[in-house]
Amino acid sequence: MTYQENCKAQWEQLKSKEHIRILAMETSCDETAAAVIEDGRKILSNCVYTQIDLHALYGGVVPEIASRAHVEKTDALVDAALNEAGLGLDDVDALAVTYGPGLVGSLLAGVSCMKGIAFAKKKILVPVHHIEGHICANFLTHPDLQPPFACLVVSGGHSHILQVKDYGKYELVGCTQDDAAGEAFDKAARVLDLPYPGGPRLDHLADAGNENALKLPKPKMEGRYDFSLSGLKTAFINAVHTMRQKNEVLPDADLAASFRKAVVDMLVEKTMLAADELGFATIALAGGVSANSLLRRRMQSECDKRGIPLYMPALKLCGDNAAMIGSAAYFRLMQGEMADLTLNARPSLPLV
Ligand code: KG4
Ligand code: ZN
Repeated sequence: MTYQENCKAQWEQLKSKEHIRILAMETSCDETAAAVIEDGRKILSNCVYTQIDLHALYGGVVPEIASRAHVEKTDALVDAALNEAGLGLDDVDALAVTYGPGLVGSLLAGVSCMKGIAFAKKKILVPVHHIEGHICANFLTHPDLQPPFACLVVSGGHSHILQVKDYGKYELVGCTQDDAAGEAFDKAARVLDLPYPGGPRLDHLADAGNENALKLPKPKMEGRYDFSLSGLKTAFINAVHTMRQKNEVLPDADLAASFRKAVVDMLVEKTMLAADELGFATIALAGGVSANSLLRRRMQSECDKRGIPLYMPALKLCGDNAAMIGSAAYFRLMQGEMADLTLNARPSLPLV
């Protein structure tokens, strides 16, 4: 029997199993992560090794260093995830891995590791889109959440408003025309000399500042539900440089608070415009920036005003992790999706 015939046969048997356990891996950027997820909703283990210390020296992710560090850690993370779940490899029903989008070398480390295990142990392997994983972090946090719902996805590389029509079925409503929200936060943090990764630090610093201290422009977009963050970011960087040249002192906290407010205003206003005009019944947040404290507060109050239920991932599931990949894989597997052993990394894999 070929590998694929074997997987097909296993899949038929899965239908009658009470519980399906998936060992998932995520290595798309600078976190090496492995997790075991039951039935797409229950976390049996969730292990993350972050490479932040390796990249902090350079002020951002160095792809070559990231790939090497992933290769060194993948096996240990698989062991850790299985140990934490109290399971062996033979106890998991399928494997899952992020195959895009992301840094090609980083993705390849995870894809190669999981393909190796899939081949050696004759296990089903489910390929997962990284952003779909972020969306599914909500299924782990909120067992009652089911599609359809709208989702504001804000990460280091993506900023989208989507309709989640069904598990794995998306329709694009709007997206950034330039920078992703996380990217904008990281760049603004950098001019304030905050260490990498700047987004969470800027968020923290902003809590102590006056958000009206610095006025920032509000760009108009052609696409009604699209947004643009690069003009805002450039205006912020120019303002900081000008102040420094003039030896003007504006507290960093005020600058951070003003920038955070401008970005969050843009994200919330566009999402709510779409909600009002398209009639969103339920909204979710996803991606690293969904940890932003102001974004969470503002989305909550706008949704409360309209009586729209809002779902946000638990803080520990906002950033990159493999639990969300295991959840996404479960719903894909239920639809019969499996990789063959030609699976490759797809650095620019689209979601819709
Ligand atoms: O989703 P994620 O972990 O990785 C990608 O898929 O890109 O997102 C990482 C991004 C980084 O840009 C990071 O600075 C940002 O999310 N981020 C935040 C916060 N926490 C993480 N940005 C603003 N406020 C935060 N609290
Ligand atoms: Zn991510």
